[in-house]
Amino acid sequence: MRTDVAGDFPLDPALVMLNHASYGVPTRRTLDEAGALRAEIEADSNERLGAELTTRLREQSALVARTLGLSPGSTTLCTNATSGAAAVIEAVDLSPGATVAVLDSEYSSICRAWEHRCARAGASFVRVPVPLPLRDTGDLLARLAAAVPGDVAFVQVSLVSSSAALALPVAAVSEWTRRRGGRLIVDAAHGPGHVPVVPVEGVDAMFGTLHKWFPTMRPVGFLWASEEFRERLRPAEVSLTWDSSDLVERFSWPGTFDPVPRLTAGSAVGQWRDWKASGALDRCEALAAQLAGTLTELGAVPTGAPPFTPPRLRAFVLPGLRHEAVKAALRESGLRVWTGPGPRGECLLRISTHVYNDEADAEALAARVREIRGGTRGLTGAAGDAAVPKVPVDADAGRLSPSAGRAGLKKTSAFPVKCHLRRRALVAGLMPE
Ligand SMILES: Cc1ncc(COP(=O)(O)O)c(C=O)c1O
Repeated sequence: MRTDVAGDFPLDPALVMLNHASYGVPTRRTLDEAGALRAEIEADSNERLGAELTTRLREQSALVARTLGLSPGSTTLCTNATSGAAAVIEAVDLSPGATVAVLDSEYSSICRAWEHRCARAGASFVRVPVPLPLRDTGDLLARLAAAVPGDVAFVQVSLVSSSAALALPVAAVSEWTRRRGGRLIVDAAHGPGHVPVVPVEGVDAMFGTLHKWFPTMRPVGFLWASEEFRERLRPAEVSLTWDSSDLVERFSWPGTFDPVPRLTAGSAVGQWRDWKASGALDRCEALAAQLAGTLTELGAVPTGAPPFTPPRLRAFVLPGLRHEAVKAALRESGLRVWTGPGPRGECLLRISTHVYNDEADAEALAARVREIRGGTRGLTGAAGDAAVPKVPVDADAGRLSPSAGRAGLKKTSAFPVKCHLRRRALVAGLMPE
């Protein structure tokens, strides 16, 4: 972890955090501000949680909308991406026999919500297989066409998919959807603070989170709706403000709740702007690219070709490994990344970089992946294996030695020997699929 910013985050310095993308990481400043907001609310909850709250939430919502380049009148904060998706999926007009198509790289619980909704409406729910690695938009559209031979009512696509970390071609999918008479819904959970969140033509609604890529308290969700769709959109909870004519007010009182995370949005956006202005976010992108290159050299297969790789979130297929074993081995080493199954059971590993990450974090992960690969004699396929240089691992440090031959690699703090031995045992237990 970068020593110059480590104090700004509440993270355990013994861990290597390369997965803020799952839940986000608030800064200490946000935590302090949240504490002050809570104290202010508790001093007079009758007033603070009364009518004035909507005004404060409207200010936060407008600031977020402007930052994202969205119209404040069409945008509101909500609880999280799941609740935003629930509102959208409930609002769509679905006739019996209609078709909803969702890429199989979409977030699983949101797919379940569509499946459930389609079953209630008597509509067909189609999961479209996304090839991994994704190399070509034409190939993706061909798969959509093969899965949906006729008209489609709605297609859902993520700006950046979750486990496979694919920057999906939203404009091309929207055009395809319009040609089939349908409308597009966009899951923008990994958008705000990471990639541009601009609705292309044909999009009815976007839902997402702020806490993943902005340093807000969690949870904070957001919703954007087209003018036509806005009137239909209602929160899943039927609360006092459920049918307000004003979108922000409609989503500002889901019953009694803790508004503090949403009230930290403005400050979090300000902190993010400072990171951007100082070049810290550019450094995160460069580190993600560098780590991606190293993992690829080690035989990890990027899930997408360059046009489909997002700036700070990268995923890889680890051929021949079981995701449960890889997860256990990395977790045991204090490495925090996301690992899990891909849509067809592949072993996926996903990293995300933040302003606190440095080269040593990247090296620690690379060294461990190299070790795992060595332990199984088969992280890569035969062709990949030939391309992987055999690099010595510093036996007691668990990180690459200076003799490793890669520019910039340096020996850093050692893991305890006991921990290293435990890791070795785990590596030995890794079974190829
Ligand atoms: C693409 C995507 N959509 C939706 C969600 C659900 O977000 P939440 O749990 O904050 O509602 C996630 C969570 O990681 C996600 O990655």
